[in-house]
Amino acid sequence: MVTVEKKNSDFGKKSNFEKKVRELVETGYSGVEEAILACKNCPLHETASNKVIGKGSRTPKVLFIGEAPGKNEDEKGIPFCGRAGKELDKMLEYMRLSEEDWAVINTLKCRPPENRNPKKSELEACKPFLAAQITLLDPKVVILLGNTAEKAYCPGKKLEWGVPEEINGRTALKIYHPAALIYTRSRIETQHALIDKNRGLWE
Ligand code: URA
Repeated sequence: MVTVEKKNSDFGKKSNFEKKVRELVETGYSGVEEAILACKNCPLHETASNKVIGKGSRTPKVLFIGEAPGKNEDEKGIPFCGRAGKELDKMLEYMRLSEEDWAVINTLKCRPPENRNPKKSELEACKPFLAAQITLLDPKVVILLGNTAEKAYCPGKKLEWGVPEEINGRTALKIYHPAALIYTRSRIETQHALIDKNRGLWE
C-alpha cells in the first residue's frame, strides 16, 4: 500500500486542491465513489442520468483516461460501453492486456449535454476525483486517450503522440482516443504503431 505522501504527488502540491485530494484519498476508493455520486460541484450533475465512475481492475498496471461519458455511458453508468468502448476493447486486445492489468476512468464523471467538449470549469471541478482515483489505483502507466485527458492530467503540457514522459511520478503516454478511430480508420494503423513501440512499458 502506498503512503499518503506518495499519493499526494499526483497533480502536484497546490494547497487547496491537494487538501481535497488528500481528504478523498483517505476515504479509500469506495469513499471516492460515494463522493462522486453525491457531487454537485458543477451544473452537469443536473442533466446527467448516471455518474460514470470507472471500470476495470482496482490494481491496474495501466490506467486509461478518457474524456467524458457519452449517451450510452450516461444511460448505463459504465464508461466506454458504446461504440468507442468497442474500439477500446479492440485496443486492449491488441495491447495484450489481461483483465487484471487495466482500468479506465474519465476526466468528467457526468455527460456534457450533446457530447460537447468539457469546459475548463467542469474539468477543474472534477479534477480532485480524477487525482484521487489515480492515486488510489496507483498505476505504473497512465494512458491519456487524446487531448482532453492530457489537458486534465498535465495542464499546459503538450505530449508527443506515442512518446512516453515521466509526469506526476508516473509514465504518461498519449495515444488516440478510441472514438477518433471510428471515423478515420487509417488512424488504426498509426495507433497500432504507437502501441507497438511502447509495449515495453506494460509487458
Ligand atoms: N468517450 C469517453 O471519453 N469516455 C467514455 O466513457 C465513452 C466515450
